[in-house]
Amino acid sequence: MPNLAHKTFCVYTYGCQMNEHDSERIVGMLESHGAIRVDTVEEAEIAVFVTCCIREAADVRLMGQVASIKNIPLPKGSVLRKRMVCIGGCIGQRDGDELPAKLAHVDVVFGTQNIERLPYLLEAAMADGGHQVEILETSDSFSSELPSKREHPWAAWLPITVGCNNFCTYCIVPYVRGRERSRTLEDIAAEARALVEDGVKEITLLGQNVNSYGRDLYGEPRFADALRAVSASGVERVRFATSHPKDLTDEVIGLYAELPNLMPSLHLPVQSGSDRILKAMNRRYDAAHYRGLIDKVRTVNPDVSLSTDIIVGFPGETEEDFQATYDLVKEIGYTQVFTFIYSPREGTPAASMVDDTPREVIQTRFDALVDLVQENARVQNRRFEGRDVDVLVEGASKRDDRVIVGHSAHNVTVHAPLPEGVALDEVAGAIVTVRVDAAKAWYLSGTMLHG
Ligand code: 5AD
Ligand code: SF4
Repeated sequence: MPNLAHKTFCVYTYGCQMNEHDSERIVGMLESHGAIRVDTVEEAEIAVFVTCCIREAADVRLMGQVASIKNIPLPKGSVLRKRMVCIGGCIGQRDGDELPAKLAHVDVVFGTQNIERLPYLLEAAMADGGHQVEILETSDSFSSELPSKREHPWAAWLPITVGCNNFCTYCIVPYVRGRERSRTLEDIAAEARALVEDGVKEITLLGQNVNSYGRDLYGEPRFADALRAVSASGVERVRFATSHPKDLTDEVIGLYAELPNLMPSLHLPVQSGSDRILKAMNRRYDAAHYRGLIDKVRTVNPDVSLSTDIIVGFPGETEEDFQATYDLVKEIGYTQVFTFIYSPREGTPAASMVDDTPREVIQTRFDALVDLVQENARVQNRRFEGRDVDVLVEGASKRDDRVIVGHSAHNVTVHAPLPEGVALDEVAGAIVTVRVDAAKAWYLSGTMLHG
């Protein structure tokens, strides 16, 4: 067993919820080897970066961050010869040996398939001073089997699949996360039960495409069964991310009316409203299929709040293609839309497609979409005005420590002043009722009714 007793460490996390989950495991694992988590790099003898490479901006930011800590001295009293700098996650997986070649102060590189090896690689790097780079193509273990230190004790990520088989032409994920592998229904149910016993109120099932869960294990997707199993744990709130429209079944949609603890919100990335672009993206559905899914969801429960991801400026996107996206976003009325400008990723099919739309044109489209999204969100949020909503309290507002912040069942951020005489600690992690007084574009503000 590596001995990291009393070594201090900090973890920087970039990117998606799977990385946030992996970071919770890294913290849990390093603590189980005796290390102590600290908040700042100045206090840390070990700095761990859990990285993302989905868009170029993420790469650039990471390189800058790693470079910026190079000359920060070790904390007083450390016996190490230098701070141990560790890079894991998707950039680690993609770049491997290139990282210490580019950034000489990097000591350990690990990937998406072997986070359990970090303590061993760290021990070796501390002992002989050489770079330790270890990347595995695939693995049969799941990081969810490692000890965990949850960011919030009351909310947990529960990965049901890792990897992706879809190969959307713009996306690097299948290359850095590997092929899709599912955990068994028994494992998932057992983890959900253990989380509930540990006081967890909200479980979010994770996967690049949760809807194809189980295909590798059972020969057919069993996502509905995974949802039922987690719901049966009795946890107060169940959520999931991310769904692929080509695999979302009527059975899963029906669960919005069947499972009382399945929260009324759905993140269903559409990426584009143009059939031509959807085909070039290899998404394997068209806009009509997507609209049909939304109709079905709204038939089952008209109150489900919807969110999506959109890529603007995919190679060859014309004004007409963009207009189709704009119209679809306007028509559906999302509560939240994550908008991205297309970023070519080396090694993906789209990176070698002709991409000659001027930057300014793409920016203009992007800005128009962002304006629409904001307007839509305000309209959607207005439907909550005057309503009482349940809010899982996550903490205090950054601007005012007497204002609580949390998420409603519909996954909308809610702010409310703490009632006189109530301390934050008394309500953090609890589900409280808030009467919504006003809807803003990005949050609801209201009055807390009881704790
Ligand atoms: N460029 C821009 N956005 C991308 N996404 C994935 N790959 C790229 C890329 N190369 C977006 C998609 C996906 C979200 C997580 O990131 O919209 O749903
Ligand atoms: Fe990327 Fe498509 Fe897989 Fe999502 S479904 S991770 S966008 S390849």
